[in-house]
Amino acid sequence: MTRYVRRFSRTERTLHWANALGFFVLLASGLVLYLPSLSVLVGRRPLVKDVHFWSGIGWVSLLAAIAVLGDRRGLVRTARDVDRFGSDDVRFLLGRRPAPQGRFNAGQKLNTVLTAAFTLLFFVSGMLLWLGERDTRFRLAGTVILHDGLMYVSLLLLVGHLYLAVIHPATRHALRGITLGTVDAEWAARHHAKWTPE
Ligand code: HEM
Ligand code: HEM
Repeated sequence: MTRYVRRFSRTERTLHWANALGFFVLLASGLVLYLPSLSVLVGRRPLVKDVHFWSGIGWVSLLAAIAVLGDRRGLVRTARDVDRFGSDDVRFLLGRRPAPQGRFNAGQKLNTVLTAAFTLLFFVSGMLLWLGERDTRFRLAGTVILHDGLMYVSLLLLVGHLYLAVIHPATRHALRGITLGTVDAEWAARHHAKWTPE
């Protein structure tokens, strides 16, 4: 019989899916603002702008609320797991094996750090775009380039992330962890040999 071990707490799963939902809404509304063909098709630019901006505010507030009201101690422990980067992580990224991994592999650690940093940068540059429309002092030369650049890079990350999460046969079992919270103990031992589940 398959034995399952806990991989993600309820707080972590809620945070992941709230983040994903907000990201997709912002990506869709942002693309309507960005691509002329979509802009013309949808029309009502001022409304789309408002939807985009207020979804951004809602997104960041929701993530902060989940982090504050949820299992904070667990999140701090997870952040520590992500923060530790050792020689096995370097070997993993260089494609050298064996490179036994902890709870998160080196790619997942990078993805987490980049996703968190990008969220902050999206927020800051988005606020500057919004304020810049109201007060010229907030109009800085690189803001649009930064906001658009973040979108391109996060799209690339997302394509890789989705491929590993839902298509690649060796890794797609992880989907169970981020939805139901548990994963097959044998799978975990193979992919995360240095991780001891609670
Ligand atoms: C807290 C988060 C965010 C805030 C406050 C925010 C805010 C804004 C604002 C105020 C604009 C300018 C709208 C205009 O004047 O036309 C904008 C544009 C845009 N945003 Fe965001 N945004 C956020 C997150 C995101 C995310 C996560 C994405 C994509 C994944 C995104 C993609 C875009 C795109 C593509 C544009 C159009 C830029 C252009 O016309 O060159 N934004 N955003
Ligand atoms: C339908 C969309 C998505 C699916 C199916 C999905 C699936 C997954 C899965 C299965 C994991 C757990 C991997 C593990 O066992 O460690 C995960 C983790 C994660 N996801 Fe997603 N995800 C989605 C959308 C997103 C989006 C939009 C973002 C960010 C913009 C994101 C960011 C992350 C991060 C940072 C992690 C932790 C590090 C990692 O595993 O790469 N996800 N996701």
